[in-house]
Amino acid sequence: MIENFYSSALKNLKEKNLYRSIVTSDVVDAVTIQRRKEKLISFSSNDYFGLSQNLEVKKSAIDAIKKFGVGAGASRYVSGNNSLYEKLEKALAKFKKCDDAIVFSSGYSCAIGVIPALVGEGDLIIADRLIHSSLIDGAKLSGARFIRFLHNDTLSCQKILIENREQFKKCLIITETIFSMDGDVGKVSELLRLAKQFDCILISDDAHGLGFETTSHPQHLQLGTFSKAFGSLGGYVCGEKNLIDYLRNFSKSQIYSTALPPAILAASLTSLKIIEKKNLGKKVLENAQYFCELMNLPKAKSAIVPIILGEAKKVLEVAKAVEEKGMLISAIRPPTVEAGKSRLRITFSSEHKKSQIKKLAEILLWLKDNLS
Ligand SMILES: Cc1ncc(COP(=O)(O)O)c(C=O)c1O
Repeated sequence: MIENFYSSALKNLKEKNLYRSIVTSDVVDAVTIQRRKEKLISFSSNDYFGLSQNLEVKKSAIDAIKKFGVGAGASRYVSGNNSLYEKLEKALAKFKKCDDAIVFSSGYSCAIGVIPALVGEGDLIIADRLIHSSLIDGAKLSGARFIRFLHNDTLSCQKILIENREQFKKCLIITETIFSMDGDVGKVSELLRLAKQFDCILISDDAHGLGFETTSHPQHLQLGTFSKAFGSLGGYVCGEKNLIDYLRNFSKSQIYSTALPPAILAASLTSLKIIEKKNLGKKVLENAQYFCELMNLPKAKSAIVPIILGEAKKVLEVAKAVEEKGMLISAIRPPTVEAGKSRLRITFSSEHKKSQIKKLAEILLWLKDNLS
C-alpha cells in the first residue's frame, strides 16, 4: 500500500534521531520565549537585533493595518502593489548602494524566483557546497547544470570554471555572505573577480549578513531576507538596474503570488531606518565573541556560533539538557547539515545580557565535563 511508504519513512527518521517535531514557542521579549509553562532565554532566533519586539516597528505595522487593512488582496501585478513597496525597495537599494531592488514574499521565494529566471537548460550554476536549501532548490528548478565547489575555496571554483565555462551559455556563481549553519564569512570579493573574469553573474545571499560590517561587498546581485535582522518577513534581490528590471519581468514567484501585507512592509521599512541609524551588528558580534572567549572557541565572525558534535543523538541530548536549565539553543541535524556534522547552533542578539551569555557558557562547559 502506498501509505506504508510514508510511515516507514517516518519510522526510519525516528530510528536515526532525525525526526522533526515543532514545539509551540510564544515570544515573551526580544530574548525570551515561552514553551509549555517554561520561560527560556533563547539563543535560537535569527531576530539578531530584537526588532520584531521594537515598539517603533510594532507601531508602524499597527498604523499600516489601520490605514490599509490586513491582506494585500492580489499579486503586485494586479492590485496588491501598496505604495509601501516602492518606499521599501527605494530605501533598501539606497542602503545597499545598488541601483534597484525587488521585494519578494520570503527569502525562499526570492531564491526560487531569481535563479530560474536567470539560467536554464544549457547554462551552468557553480555554487559553494554549503549554500542554503532555498538556493539549491532554485538551482535545481532552473534545469541548469549544477556543480558545487569546496566550501569557501575559490581555487576549487576557478578549476570548475576553467574545465566547464566554455561549454555553457550563461553561468551563475552562488555563495553566501555569512553561512547560515557555520557563521563564517563567504569569499564574495574573490568570487566577484572570478565572475567578471569568466563572464558570469555572482549571486551572494546576505540573509545572515545584513547589519554586520563584515559583509558590505560590491556585488552583481545580492539576495536577502527581512525575516532575520529586520524582525519582519519577506525577501529581496538588489543589484544592477538592467538585471533587476529583467527579474521584475521574469521571476515567477513574485508574479504569481499574492503581495505581502502592508503591515509587514511598514515594519521592514521602520527596521531598515533603525538599522541605518544604529550599528547594532557591533553589539551582536561583541556578544558572540564574548561567548567564544568563555568557551575557548575560535573568534566569532557573525551572530552564529556552531559547536559541531557529530552525532544527531548527541546534539539532541545536549540541547535538551540546556533547555532543562532554562536556555534554548538549536540542535541542527541532517539534512540541514552533512551527516556526521550535527551541531549546536547558537545565535546571538544585541539584546542579550552578558550575564545570560555567561550562564549559557557555564551550562555548556558543565555539560561537556558531565555528559558522556
Ligand atoms: C542563507 C539563507 N537564505 C535564505 C533563507 C530563507 O529566508 P526566509 O526565511 O525569508 O524564507 C534563509 C533562512 O531560512 C537562510 O538562512
